[in-house]
Amino acid sequence: MASTPGAAEVLVASNRGPVSYAVGDDGTVTAKRGGGGLVSALSSVDDKLWVCAALGDGDREAVRRGITEPGVRMLDIDPEVHASAYNGIANSVLWFVHHMLYQTPLEPSFGPEFRRQWAAYEEYNRAFAQALADGAAPGATVVVQDYHLALVPGMLRALRPDLRIGHFSHTPWAPVDYFRMLPDDIAEQLLRGMLGADRLGFLTRRWADAFTECCARIVGGPGDTEIGVHGLGADAEFLRERAHREDVEERLAALREQVGAGRKVVVRVDRTELSKNIVRGLRAFELLLETRPEWRERVVHLAFAYPSRQDLEVYQEYTAEVSWVAASINSRFGTEDWTPVVLHVKDDFARSLAAYRLADVALVNPIRDGMNLVAKEVPIVSDGGGCVLVLSREAGAYEELGEDALGVNPYDLIGTAEALGAALDMPEKERVARGERLAAAGSSLPPAQWFLAQLKALHKP
Ligand code: G6P
Repeated sequence: MASTPGAAEVLVASNRGPVSYAVGDDGTVTAKRGGGGLVSALSSVDDKLWVCAALGDGDREAVRRGITEPGVRMLDIDPEVHASAYNGIANSVLWFVHHMLYQTPLEPSFGPEFRRQWAAYEEYNRAFAQALADGAAPGATVVVQDYHLALVPGMLRALRPDLRIGHFSHTPWAPVDYFRMLPDDIAEQLLRGMLGADRLGFLTRRWADAFTECCARIVGGPGDTEIGVHGLGADAEFLRERAHREDVEERLAALREQVGAGRKVVVRVDRTELSKNIVRGLRAFELLLETRPEWRERVVHLAFAYPSRQDLEVYQEYTAEVSWVAASINSRFGTEDWTPVVLHVKDDFARSLAAYRLADVALVNPIRDGMNLVAKEVPIVSDGGGCVLVLSREAGAYEELGEDALGVNPYDLIGTAEALGAALDMPEKERVARGERLAAAGSSLPPAQWFLAQLKALHKP
């Protein structure tokens, strides 16, 4: 198909973009810029274009009024199409498949509603492919992000065979027998869509191998597409500087007050996300208090669980359950001057960093996770020579941090409670030694390097 090549040499595509807009009561539109890894990674690249979706009324209003950021193209996709693609397919099907979250016998069920949503997912992917085709200079490099846009590489290849196309998965990849729950034609279409890329990136060898196995069993192999592994690390320099600014110091003082003098602190910071396994984490902390009574009054669990994907009922229910379980532990064990679980649900980056600094123990126990940057960030930021990391062996980060973390099976409540106990008991010398190694490992491959490594690999002769 004919296209008019645009000007960008490097293009990124993702559902959630680097900026979002809100309409104030007086009708003015204000921009909020995101600070994620990709944003800083791209800051050093000239001639770039970031294609993303308008996600809410504020974004749509900005697009309607022609308000844009340089280097960003926000697509105003029909809200119903976007909702079906994003809530329906991406977050209720693909996310569930890759994180193995379905609860049989009721789920999954792929009927007519699923097919309708799938058509929207195709339309949504097509809109991205077209915008990228329009915006890319001849021979430009495009890196497509995540499961929302799995069909884009193949669609874009058909529109612009001159481009170098990469796709990066930030999630795990499902084992083949689980992936094959998807209807056969859909499983095949997804794989072929991704294989339209020159190169596919995954966060760990484990996810890359699972993808390769799916290709072998379903479409006869990955063909000419190269499959690479690029672990993503934390931006240590930024975090250390940010964690000592005044707003963090203020929150640190407030948290210290809440915790009470001389108590140990177990920290978790997550989106309230089913895969993060927050309820089992709380239950394991409760079991610790039950089985190790000497820790009562002497430890506080700071649990920060920020609501996410609230359009989905199952997420709303999970969010309510998290609050309910935290309250039940407090009413069972709490005393006049000790609240065992301090739950915060309002997303506040400065307060998260303050909690990182206070952490004696970080609890990161996802059922499955592509990488999990919290596991890398807490040891980098924590005061007092580092914290002990209790880490699920099902997190991608476990491949890099497993030796110095206390590994847990995320379903095993007793094992997790014991690991929390062992973390609290750990002698200082061992804690500091492990903490230093965790911080060093978590700092390798910061976002800018991670992204540049992908660009370089895409251009390997
Ligand atoms: C995961 C995904 C990202 C996504 C993020 C937040 O990390 O890999 O693509 O942006 O979750 O989810 P949301 O649905 O709010 O964008």
